[in-house]
Amino acid sequence: MEIHVEVNHKPLVWKVNPGEILLDVLRREGYKSVKFGCGQGDCGACTVLIDGQSMRSCLLLAGQVEGRSITTVESLGNHDDAHPLQSSFVECGAVQCGYCTPGMLLSSKALLDENPEPDEDQVREALDGNLCRCTGYKKIIEAVLRAAERMRS
Ligand code: FES
Ligand code: FES
Repeated sequence: MEIHVEVNHKPLVWKVNPGEILLDVLRREGYKSVKFGCGQGDCGACTVLIDGQSMRSCLLLAGQVEGRSITTVESLGNHDDAHPLQSSFVECGAVQCGYCTPGMLLSSKALLDENPEPDEDQVREALDGNLCRCTGYKKIIEAVLRAAERMRS
């Protein structure tokens, strides 16, 4: 079957099998920032934004995103022009192995797009579906709060 999506502002037509998981299709199409962690909705490594909402791509069939807009970390920024969240994660030491980082960045982006001035509890709540084995979360939360401040100024 064919589906029509917009990924990182680019309109695309994908050929997918009816049972294909969105995570698998995204990775096949080259969006390697989207990670496979648990495959059952528990870890958040596969997080993408669908129409601006943080969602787990391992829990969606590709056919369910027909006509929707998908955002992955590939669109956030790059080494020379990093998004404030990316800069803050690096500055705060919020990235270690990096496996959780794309999902963390996108869940954080969804939060800051909706609430530019979150408090620590709101950041914790927004990230409670994203697991990190390395950092202990303190630095990640600090990074999101720093990015929020930077984006407001
Ligand atoms: S791979 Fe999707 S939530 Fe873990
Ligand atoms: S930085 Fe390693 S899982 Fe989060």
